[in-house]
Amino acid sequence: MILPIYTYGQPVLRKETEEIGPDYPNLKEIIQDMWDTLAKSRGVGLAAPQVGLSIRMAIIDLDCISEDEPQYSGYKRTFINPYIEEVDETEKETQEEGCLSLPGLSEKVTRPARIRVSYLDENFQEHDEWVDGFLARVMQHEFDHLDGVVYTDHLKGLRRQLMAPKLKQLVKGIFSADYKVKPLRK
Ligand code: NI
Repeated sequence: MILPIYTYGQPVLRKETEEIGPDYPNLKEIIQDMWDTLAKSRGVGLAAPQVGLSIRMAIIDLDCISEDEPQYSGYKRTFINPYIEEVDETEKETQEEGCLSLPGLSEKVTRPARIRVSYLDENFQEHDEWVDGFLARVMQHEFDHLDGVVYTDHLKGLRRQLMAPKLKQLVKGIFSADYKVKPLRK
């Protein structure tokens, strides 16, 4: 089932999420709904708060960019209770980011290039690994959502100032998206 994506201004996007266990109600269905929703909106990642659920879970699909980035062929993962455990501060990278909850906007964001993450997969198997490149960026973006953070929070100076009026428009519901959304106001 395709779910509406909660857009900027919705309080759920600013809430700290709760960890979940295997007994969380309808977990399999929720994960499947998130995959359906991500495929329909053609994003690379989706965090549970973006579909209105304040739980610590996200999905990432990099298979959809594997034509240009063959190393990500088949990369579709579910992350339950993920955390960034360590950050390699020696190298940062700047790249354009967007977010399904902020339709029509994008901006360059600087993030550490290499991080260590821990998470459970959909079978509640534990993982602990170092990642880099685009995957490290997408993970940081998605896991930020689980702490109530969106990418525009990382902007500084003029970029931040220029973004502010655009964010206000989103809160007012003045935007268009070619996928199902749930804005604060219509
Ligand atoms: Ni996002």
